[in-house]
Amino acid sequence: MITQVKAGPGQTTAMATALNRNQAVPDECSPATTSAALRRLLAVHDIYGPAGKRILLRAGLQPGMRVADFGCGIGTVTRTLAEIVGPTGSVIGVDADASQLVQAGDICGPGLTNISFVEADACATGLPRRSFDLVYCRFLLSHLADRSACLREMYEVLKPGGLIVVEDGDVASATSVPPSVLDAFALLFTLLGRKRGLDYSAANNLCQMVRAAGFFKAQIEMHQPAVSSGEGRFLLKWSVEDAGPALISAGLITPDQLESILAKMQAATEDPSVLILAPRMSIVWARKS
Ligand SMILES: C[S@@+](CC[C@H](N)C(=O)[O-])C[C@H]1O[C@@H](n2cnc3c(N)ncnc32)[C@H](O)[C@@H]1O
Repeated sequence: MITQVKAGPGQTTAMATALNRNQAVPDECSPATTSAALRRLLAVHDIYGPAGKRILLRAGLQPGMRVADFGCGIGTVTRTLAEIVGPTGSVIGVDADASQLVQAGDICGPGLTNISFVEADACATGLPRRSFDLVYCRFLLSHLADRSACLREMYEVLKPGGLIVVEDGDVASATSVPPSVLDAFALLFTLLGRKRGLDYSAANNLCQMVRAAGFFKAQIEMHQPAVSSGEGRFLLKWSVEDAGPALISAGLITPDQLESILAKMQAATEDPSVLILAPRMSIVWARKS
């Protein structure tokens, strides 16, 4: 059964209790239940939001469209999508994690009445087949063991001729100039992905994956944000910090090592002579025939 709830701060509590419990357990990339996690996810959107929006518009996102945002998380892109499709269109955000959807309700609620959310597995959403004009996901596929199943589901819910836009990052590409302890992010997350049976660099094959799922006219843009100022500079450090308990329980680092690395990452982040390169992003857009 799908739980479908309109966005809005007053409705999020009801949503949390009504949510379906028989869902896939999402990769715990970004639990949105702490303010630290929230500020990190907002930094992610500051860094990657503008290019994603530009490509969505270039691909053909327009007012009146019916859109599904797979693995919507805290709803930062869901909100942008809803603003663009306007009152004659609609957006449904899908996520397997109820806590993310509660947060998304708060972020997307004010001023927008064309958004709803569903707690569901992105590989088996239960959404109506052949009914969306555009399907979208960002930072979802690399968190899935079966990426093809998700792309198949996206294909199935699209109308004939509909658009897919997918974005994903290669964690191993994150670094700094000059190289610094911030490289710990790439190493630790690559190893954590392997421990979880996931490939956090799967984005490098995104175009091929989309084509293999049956889409045609696939186009790709890759970009690597250089973060010279602002809160976004903390992305690599905050990500390691948030994942600390998982890194320790996976046996990749001891608590003492983590504390020491985080202190050094903080210093490197605050050093204006260090240019931070966030994970390289691949954005692919294509059509269903
Ligand atoms: C890194 S977050 C990205 C969130 C959002 N797309 C963004 O870019 O800000 C990945 C999201 O995918 C969700 N997720 C992971 N596995 C999922 C699955 N099998 N089905 C649905 N959502 C899933 C997580 O709960 C999380 O909200």
